[in-house]
Amino acid sequence: METPGPVNPDLVYSLRRVTERAACAAFNWIGRGDADDGGRAALDAMRAAIAEIDIDARVVIGEATAGEAPQPQRGEHLGSPGAAFKADIAVDPVEGTSYLVRGLTNALSVLAVAPRGAMMNPGPAFYMEKFVASAPARGKIDPAWSTSKKLEELAGILNKDISDLTVFVLEKPRHRALVNEILAAGARVAMYPAGDVAGALMAAVPGSSIDALMGTGGTPEGVMSACAVRAIGGEFLARLDPQLQTETQAVNDAGIDTQRWFERDELITSDDVFFCATGITTGLMLEGVEKSKTHYKLQTMMITGASGERQIMTSYLPIERLASVAARDVA
Ligand code: FBP
Repeated sequence: METPGPVNPDLVYSLRRVTERAACAAFNWIGRGDADDGGRAALDAMRAAIAEIDIDARVVIGEATAGEAPQPQRGEHLGSPGAAFKADIAVDPVEGTSYLVRGLTNALSVLAVAPRGAMMNPGPAFYMEKFVASAPARGKIDPAWSTSKKLEELAGILNKDISDLTVFVLEKPRHRALVNEILAAGARVAMYPAGDVAGALMAAVPGSSIDALMGTGGTPEGVMSACAVRAIGGEFLARLDPQLQTETQAVNDAGIDTQRWFERDELITSDDVFFCATGITTGLMLEGVEKSKTHYKLQTMMITGASGERQIMTSYLPIERLASVAARDVA
């Protein structure tokens, strides 16, 4: 890891502007059936907002897969090139593109920042199997265990009956067996068609309605979630789990061991992380964007690793000051 330069915990207040601007830009495309324009607008707004921040951020994970909204390129530099804080950044201007396109709940704009070199580079792997739970589970769950053994142990750790556990799982054909195992163990599932960043956060926050996240989702989402989970103090275990044919080939060619489970602190090797998520449409954790004649109203979750703080902020942004966002209004 490179020497990061001074890390100011208050940076999170500037970073939150980045996801706020992206959420404002995406707002205009809620429920319009188009992933590309909404994603492009959110990404442009994100790039413009980061340029105003005193941070030299290198994109660790980028490049959208088919059907995803546009992403920045891996290796692209965002922010101010001469800034003292050399950082890694992972962004998802629209996390839950299918929700945005269909006007459904749970679309977020998300970013995570860590000192340069602290974020795992997943190489050509787009998919990752994840296990997330709250702080009491740290170091106590072996990812090699069966689903029922994991849930039995987790129930004991959380002092709950297994029938009171709820496990967030992305609703995908690849998870049929996993869902059956969870149900057979006696726990509940919370199945969402998209958006496992929110699922990971809920699983890591003690006392939320979600006790664990299990199953395979995106690697960018995994690395961003791991930043937030490390700052919150929860457990995050991950294994690269390619799903696409080309991805599997590239992962094999790169000699990546897909059986190896990574610990949370291998995914993110520093405590000096920042995480911001702004609601685009109202969801599990955050309210979505509301637009009046004069203001955008937004809700953002900000997490600062250095101070261990987790905050939810409501912002009112005057529309007339957001020229770049207004200029991209739909015709
Ligand atoms: P995007 O909207 O950013 O494309 O991601 C949505 C998402 O559901 C993530 O939360 C999740 O990690 C990933 O896609 C799962 O991918 P897939 O839908 O291809 O299984």
